[in-house]
Amino acid sequence: MEQISERLCRYKGYTFVVGLTSPEYLDSLQSFHIRDSDIFLVTYPKSGTVWTQQILISICELSGGLNEYPNNLEQMPWLEYTEDRPDYALRPSPRLFATHLPPALMPPGLKDKKAKIIYVMRNPKDNVVSYYHFSKVFSDLECPNKFEDFLETYLAGNVGASSWFDHIRLWRSVCDQYNILYLSYEDMIQNLRGAVEKICHFLGRNLSDADIDKVVEKSTFHTMKKDPKANYKFLPEERMSGDFMRKGRIGDWKNTLTVAQSERVDRLLQERLGNMNLEFIWE
Ligand code: A3P
Repeated sequence: MEQISERLCRYKGYTFVVGLTSPEYLDSLQSFHIRDSDIFLVTYPKSGTVWTQQILISICELSGGLNEYPNNLEQMPWLEYTEDRPDYALRPSPRLFATHLPPALMPPGLKDKKAKIIYVMRNPKDNVVSYYHFSKVFSDLECPNKFEDFLETYLAGNVGASSWFDHIRLWRSVCDQYNILYLSYEDMIQNLRGAVEKICHFLGRNLSDADIDKVVEKSTFHTMKKDPKANYKFLPEERMSGDFMRKGRIGDWKNTLTVAQSERVDRLLQERLGNMNLEFIWE
């Protein structure tokens, strides 16, 4: 693993935060035993991972069969991190995992298409603003003081999870290889109930209307902000010095990006993803 800055290292072309994983462990994922009932949530950081984590956990709790864990992070751990990692082979089904990994580093067993993947993406302009603020409060990350400097590192892919553009392109281009549902943060904001119903349908979990209402209520920004299992306030303060649940809005980038920066991102979107038919609303 090559260290590329104080807080970042690179392995097989992908950027990780120093200390959270190891090459040996990442290599071991190539023989990770996948169960048909496994559910993976895949995102680029700051795309609504913790939100979707709450939705998935609530759906699985209400449709039965989940063991209790103290918080959502333990209920749905990050696949690639070695810190506090339990023995997943001993975990009862269904197992829930979150990950920011690119397809090439995922367990190959997922390609038999029985286990399910939910991929959530978010407008890169809101994504970069969210990432900038998160980097300021999360001590594992490094953050330049000025947004314009962070934007440069972000656009160059020199942040944890590498380039947003590559993540979206790589995960969209493997749609035929996995059993995968694509969602966008923006769709979820505009129609949370619709997103919950889509996820239930994809997972084959039949919830009553009343239970769907419960999932929606548990997953609103305001409920999650107060929910100690979901809001990540359980992380020690020296590691996380601000609110994980920051604004939870779409279009907030307009308060940060200049017109020139916004146009630059538009141009890159066109150049890098213009041919991909991303039928999502970004605004
Ligand atoms: P902001 O920083 O724009 O507020 P991730 O979980 O992938 O790190 O993404 C974090 C972003 O999702 C943060 O965005 C956070 O506020 C937002 N978020 C978390 N829960 C949410 C919810 N219930 N509704 C809307 N946004 C939510």
